[in-house]
Amino acid sequence: MGRITSSSCPAPGRPAASWRFRAMTTRARSERCQDDIGLIVGRRCMQNIQSHSAGEILKAVALAGSIGTYCGMSRMLEDLLDESRATGWAAGQGTLAQVQMDAAVLGWVEVPTRRGGPAVSTLRPVDPAEAEPNSLSARYGRDAQPLHTDGAHLSKPPDIVVLTCATTSTTPTRLWNRPRYGRARTQLPEHVRHGVFLISSGAESCFGTAYSGGRFRYDPGCMQPCDARARQTVQYFVDVAKYADEHIWGEPGQVLLIDNRRVLHARASATQEPQREIQRVSFHLKREAS
Ligand SMILES: [Fe+2]
Repeated sequence: MGRITSSSCPAPGRPAASWRFRAMTTRARSERCQDDIGLIVGRRCMQNIQSHSAGEILKAVALAGSIGTYCGMSRMLEDLLDESRATGWAAGQGTLAQVQMDAAVLGWVEVPTRRGGPAVSTLRPVDPAEAEPNSLSARYGRDAQPLHTDGAHLSKPPDIVVLTCATTSTTPTRLWNRPRYGRARTQLPEHVRHGVFLISSGAESCFGTAYSGGRFRYDPGCMQPCDARARQTVQYFVDVAKYADEHIWGEPGQVLLIDNRRVLHARASATQEPQREIQRVSFHLKREAS
């Protein structure tokens, strides 16, 4: 990854995206830049700039609106990822735009969970008749969903799922990770590793298991059990749902980061909250971060 800095700062009022990024190695250049645009650029920001590509920086700056905004904001997503190492998820405060900006800086790649669809989805409780084929809503409507991972039908499911809620919701998001004893997670039953499912994905349908290569892939909406072990696995995830934690959307502007490789999630019943609205954006990590 190239080291990116700037040796020529934009004139005040000139769009940041027009900067020519060149190698900057001296503190003097940094200070001159700060003077030129009248901003205090923190040390952390400079570290970020120096460790990312021009494309990443330009995308982040474009999302932030200005280099000043970009530099002044904390790396919220990075902090949530750090926090998620223990449990597999983490919650904080932020906006969808902030999530996308931080992700661009980190080099994460947005993943549409529907082929040809947008990277950002607005999730609303819908009846089966209104739902996408093979989706959980097509089977469960506004009732409680089963535990699942997102994008299970994709050849490469997203690593990270981020949910944001601009308002509040009385419908929790359930989260399940393998129980922990001491520093280690419990072993999964053999049937979870070896039960074979047909994963429906149109012309790219294939066979697979619910756990492979250190990550879960499980969605009863698009995965049909093909053998006894897979049927045991379906029952296993039904049984462990009672141990799931619940994230409560009790404050406006919450962000919930879910490690889609390690954690299954589900929306609780939304029959009492038809107006619920959650934004979702999913990512492939550029670098392995677990
Ligand atoms: Fe989901």
